[in-house]
Amino acid sequence: MGRVYYVSKNVGLGMLVLATIALATIIALSIAYDKERAKNRGKPENEATDSTSMPTPLTTPSTPKEPWDHYRLPDSLVPVSYNVTLWPRLRPNADGMYLFTGYSAVIFSCVKETDLIIIHSNKLNLTNFYGHHAKLSGLGDATAPTIQKTWLVVKTHYLVLQLRSALAVGASYVLHTEFQGELADDLEGFYRSEYTEDGVKKVVATSQMQATYARKTFPCFDEPAMKAVFTVTIIHDQGTVALSNGREIGSFYPLLWTKLSHSLQIRIWARRKAIEDRQGDYALNVTGPILQFYEHYYNATYPLSKSDQIALPDFNAGAMENWGLVTYRETALLYDPIMSSTGNKERITTVIAHELAHMWFGNLVTLQWWNDLWLNEGFASYVEYLGADYAEPTWNIKDQIILYDVHKVFAVDALASSHPLSRREEEVNTPAQISEMFNTISYSKGAAVLRMLSEFLTEPVFAKGLSSYLNTFAFGNTVYTDLWDHLQQVGMHIPHTVHNIMNRWTLQMGFPVVTIDTRTGSITQKHFLLDPDSVVDRPSQFNYTWFVPIKWMKTGVEQQQHWLLQKTVNSTTGEDWVLANTNVSGYFRVNYDLDNWDRLLSLLNTNHQALSIINRAQIIDDAFNLARAKIINTTLALRTSKYLAKERDYIPWESALRNLDYYILMFDRTEVYGALQLYLKKQIQPLFEYFKTITANWTKVPTGHTDRYNQINAIGIACSMGVDGCRELIKSWYRQWMESPHHNPIHPNLKTTVYCSAIAFGGVEEWDFAWRMFKNATLASEAVRLRSAMACTKVPWLLNRYLEYTLDPTKIRKQDATSTIQYIARNVVGMPLAWNFVRARWSYIFQHYGRGSFSFSNLVNGITKRFSTDFELQELKKFKEDNLHVGFGSATLALEQAIEKTTANIKWVTENKAHVLKWFTEEST
Ligand SMILES: *[C@@H]1O[C@H](CO)[C@@H](O)[C@H](O)[C@H]1NC(C)=O
Ligand SMILES: *[C@@H]1O[C@H](CO)[C@@H](O)[C@H](O)[C@H]1NC(C)=O
Ligand SMILES: *[C@@H]1O[C@H](CO)[C@@H](O)[C@H](O)[C@H]1NC(C)=O
Ligand SMILES: *[C@@H]1O[C@H](CO)[C@@H](O)[C@H](O)[C@H]1NC(C)=O
Ligand SMILES: *[C@@H]1O[C@H](CO)[C@@H](O)[C@H](O)[C@H]1NC(C)=O
Ligand SMILES: *[C@@H]1O[C@H](CO)[C@@H](O)[C@H](O)[C@H]1NC(C)=O
Ligand SMILES: *[C@@H]1O[C@H](CO)[C@@H](O)[C@H](O)[C@H]1NC(C)=O
Ligand SMILES: [Zn+2]
Repeated sequence: MGRVYYVSKNVGLGMLVLATIALATIIALSIAYDKERAKNRGKPENEATDSTSMPTPLTTPSTPKEPWDHYRLPDSLVPVSYNVTLWPRLRPNADGMYLFTGYSAVIFSCVKETDLIIIHSNKLNLTNFYGHHAKLSGLGDATAPTIQKTWLVVKTHYLVLQLRSALAVGASYVLHTEFQGELADDLEGFYRSEYTEDGVKKVVATSQMQATYARKTFPCFDEPAMKAVFTVTIIHDQGTVALSNGREIGSFYPLLWTKLSHSLQIRIWARRKAIEDRQGDYALNVTGPILQFYEHYYNATYPLSKSDQIALPDFNAGAMENWGLVTYRETALLYDPIMSSTGNKERITTVIAHELAHMWFGNLVTLQWWNDLWLNEGFASYVEYLGADYAEPTWNIKDQIILYDVHKVFAVDALASSHPLSRREEEVNTPAQISEMFNTISYSKGAAVLRMLSEFLTEPVFAKGLSSYLNTFAFGNTVYTDLWDHLQQVGMHIPHTVHNIMNRWTLQMGFPVVTIDTRTGSITQKHFLLDPDSVVDRPSQFNYTWFVPIKWMKTGVEQQQHWLLQKTVNSTTGEDWVLANTNVSGYFRVNYDLDNWDRLLSLLNTNHQALSIINRAQIIDDAFNLARAKIINTTLALRTSKYLAKERDYIPWESALRNLDYYILMFDRTEVYGALQLYLKKQIQPLFEYFKTITANWTKVPTGHTDRYNQINAIGIACSMGVDGCRELIKSWYRQWMESPHHNPIHPNLKTTVYCSAIAFGGVEEWDFAWRMFKNATLASEAVRLRSAMACTKVPWLLNRYLEYTLDPTKIRKQDATSTIQYIARNVVGMPLAWNFVRARWSYIFQHYGRGSFSFSNLVNGITKRFSTDFELQELKKFKEDNLHVGFGSATLALEQAIEKTTANIKWVTENKAHVLKWFTEEST
């Protein structure tokens, strides 16, 4: 399935509540900039003066101990409210620059005596007031001290005011600033997004404040605990629309809207054409139900009176949960009933569910500091499945957390280089450290351990504690232990406190493998490491042991949950099979004695439906990973794939294919591949026939949601393993499309796979047709499908020509160069060509693509994925030596890792090749 992972960043609401969108569609930008009209547009009284008159004194402080050298704000001042006016110019000035000007008044109170005002400001040119960057006045009875001097600190993003006397504790003041900034296309702060409609260029001024970009929009106390009330004014042209977090005062032009029972206004915004094509309908349909679900789940009403969601043509993350005004990448909000696939639709549902979960958890109640980001993102990444399930109850979407979070993060968290979920507050200071927190561990491990917590407390108890937490801290800030406290108050029947249990999962990295020996009855745990030879140099106060909640069943009968605190539970013997981690509710792997493994395998082969879909997937994923870690032998892992000939469900198949992919990469250039291909052909054939039947000979779309994904697997694998009828089918579809390019008969769900296979079986004609369609594609997702499919050809000269295209920005956009080379390297024929191509041109690539979106580390990772011979290892080392003078930039670490991984692959292949060949050979006949 083509689900793309998104990083949704939460709003650090306190500081920045703004997150204003000035959405503007200028009708005729080709008309020359008209100064008269610009002046008439309601320039505010205090409009910024010409920036050239502004001094920007920049002092580099002599001692590093000054308060303005710290990345964290001092605790002497707290903001109360802001009045912010922003005026984005949607046409360039005479120098071709897009600017915005603004005015801000922040009321703050003094809680500790100080003669310094330190406030964030970055890349803003501040207007001079009588020689200073800002103006200060007292509120009520307070008299403001006079300003001695003001200056900007570039490194820590501060505007600093040195006062002649101290501010009074308990008094409030108003700080006024006027500023001018660039409305750049840098996707940060207040920025510019452009698109073309009916041949006319349109400009949108929009925002991305999280994590540290509000300070690039207006001077503010830019930290999550610095919550305040905001009044936002946007100056904009007639015929354009301005949106902000709250309800608008004045006229607006909703393109779509609906109401909930208590008059909540829900609107979806996008390019006019997209709305006219009804691409916003689906998002509008699911938003109401999802909000209702959370109101019930949290036992708290939606905290605002409106919910706007807008799709932006240029957007860096997947979506951003600005309170009441969520911003999205177009692919995460817009659904086209004709062009979009089932995967596209699912992504829209889950991203909306994720962002709306943050309206309470994250926005209404906000974590104190970024070190606790995992709780915010992990939480939303867990409950997004619950919200999406409510909106689309037939999808069984809750099961998918296994593939897309649990298994995904197991892979990362099983490395010795992993890190704990929780960080200490002092460890996270700089903007770079803050943005590092937005990673797979925070999102997916956070989701997995919270799901485990909810499962062992039971969902009603979890929801009750959650509701108590949200109601207690509404409009305030928390640390993660506050949630544990509230869960503890309602939680019962657990052997330790929520704190003690959860600390082991959040304060130490990794997870355990639980081993159940059904002969002796012993149950033990051990830190699971994918590479048994790796050394963990990060000590843990808990010695890498966990309190493990083990749900289990014996011969189909659910048993009482067992808490593994140290060791040993009673045995089970005889014909009984034992399965632990039922419903995969725990964040751990399971191993058994060989007898029990045999009983489970025989159960799979005779009656696999006795186990749940996700437990089938879990057995496969555990076995393959235990084998990689040398805890069980490889043939045992391979045996878990035997029953697949009978499997029809998506999740177990997907799990097996992901694991077998490593075998394909290691062996697709060796004699093993022939046997592997025969085996997989035998296994996939029944699935292919099944889909042929249920789709009435490929004329219908399967009704089951995940069946649609598994149909893609069935066709993709069947064609590459040579199942009879598959190639002919694909070729005929593609041929029909070539004959009438305006009538593509291929269903959107199948396009990625069908294009790839058709191009792999075809020649220059098929390739050139795809290139033409790629050049004409108007839908971004269609262009991506074609761009990846063109890398599937087996014709070397076509692959080499395509490689050359990647360095010609008129053919392949610069931002797509790296991924295109990776697609080519993914192809067994293309891999050596891509390697030669990159090696031969390294210094050219490095010099010309050294900056910007060209990702050298992805490039090195992509090309070296298959490396598993001594010869390749030597080549890699030589490449490193030969180019030391050029350098590797962002690929330096990736290159080291590639050498390490190649070494590990060589070892694995040496140890396993003969056994694997023997096994596939025996099993494929
Ligand atoms: C902010 O604006 C409101 C109304 O628009 C006004 O009453 C208030 O005095 C303003 N506050 C400051 C600090 O300018
Ligand atoms: C800010 O001031 C500098 C120095 O005068 C100038 O080069 C720059 O263009 C100004 N930026 C904006 C956005 O006005
Ligand atoms: C939205 O809901 C309406 C009413 O139930 C339905 O007719 C329409 O097909 C739905 N649109 C989409 C894109 O799901
Ligand atoms: C929901 O909240 C209300 C009041 O806020 C409270 O009385 C009620 O007990 C809560 N319900 C649950 C199930 O927690
Ligand atoms: C970890 O191991 C050390 C040394 O064996 C022991 O003193 C300590 O109590 C252990 N800590 C925990 C939490 O088990
Ligand atoms: C273990 O099983 C034996 C025999 O069935 C039983 O007598 C004993 O109480 C069990 N022990 C525990 C800890 O459950
Ligand atoms: C796995 O174990 C079986 C039986 O114990 C043995 O025959 C086989 O050679 C082993 N395979 C590997 C890869 O070590
Ligand atoms: Zn999020």
